[in-house]
Amino acid sequence: MTALLELKNASRRFGGLNAVNNVSFAVKQGEVIGLIGPNGAGKTTLINLITAVHPATAGRVFFEGRDITKMRPYQIARLGLARTFQIVQPFPKMTVLENVAAGAMFAGHADSLKEAHAQAREHLAFTGLGGSADKPAAALTLAQRKRLELAKGLAMKPRLLMLDEVNAGLNPTEIDEALGMIRKVANQGVTIVVIEHLMKVVTSISQRIVVLHHGQLIADGEPNAVLRDPKVVEAYLGSKYAAAHAGGTA
Ligand SMILES: Nc1ncnc2c1ncn2[C@@H]1O[C@H](COP(=O)(O)OP(=O)(O)OP(=O)(O)O)[C@@H](O)[C@H]1O
Ligand SMILES: [Mg+2]
Repeated sequence: MTALLELKNASRRFGGLNAVNNVSFAVKQGEVIGLIGPNGAGKTTLINLITAVHPATAGRVFFEGRDITKMRPYQIARLGLARTFQIVQPFPKMTVLENVAAGAMFAGHADSLKEAHAQAREHLAFTGLGGSADKPAAALTLAQRKRLELAKGLAMKPRLLMLDEVNAGLNPTEIDEALGMIRKVANQGVTIVVIEHLMKVVTSISQRIVVLHHGQLIADGEPNAVLRDPKVVEAYLGSKYAAAHAGGTA
């Protein structure tokens, strides 16, 4: 079966820095994958490379077997690849509703502003932001902005949704709520790649974990095996984590 997304030797250089270095992996339809690695490992750059925000400087990206490496971001969005931003960046003066409607328009799923607003209202209801629809985006709390990012992503009706640290800065209750939403989206058949530093969160939703370190893919596989991999422990998790979880469930 053709992979939903496939990277073949994909790289992204910024001047002399190999932010993503010769990365190959495939994502199957319906998978939920955790993408982890230390700060600066290249996780966000990998998403930027896939969505052509910062296109690959070498290698290829395929979506359903189709080469999307040279496509523009809006064309990629229209194929069904959506992402959230780690640094939440709503249009601050636009209302929450308009921000989400913009996602629907960008990905080409609404023929009119009215239709875009109707779709946006559904996504705001799903993310619990229905009561904030008419507020300027700048008035939202951090947790609400993270939900707004999710709503904007959903408005693009993605087949593959890439979430860049949507739980960062949230309290445990907010994280549980966000996880519930992500699970529901996954249950609707959306394939998901989650970038996440909280191991509890990663292990609770991922069927597979991919690890980046200095731009390179150092592990890819079943969560328990990946989290016990000495390379991963050394690069990211630290010996404390390994000792605490030795022989147990990660
Ligand atoms: N637009 C850019 N121009 C120059 N260098 C960049 C750019 N974006 C990222 N980098 C560099 O590429 C490397 C990878 O950064 P990236 O943001 O992808 O890491 P990350 O794994 O997402 O880290 P974090 O966990 O802190 O979010 C870093 O050294 C970063 O400084
Ligand atoms: Mg990042």
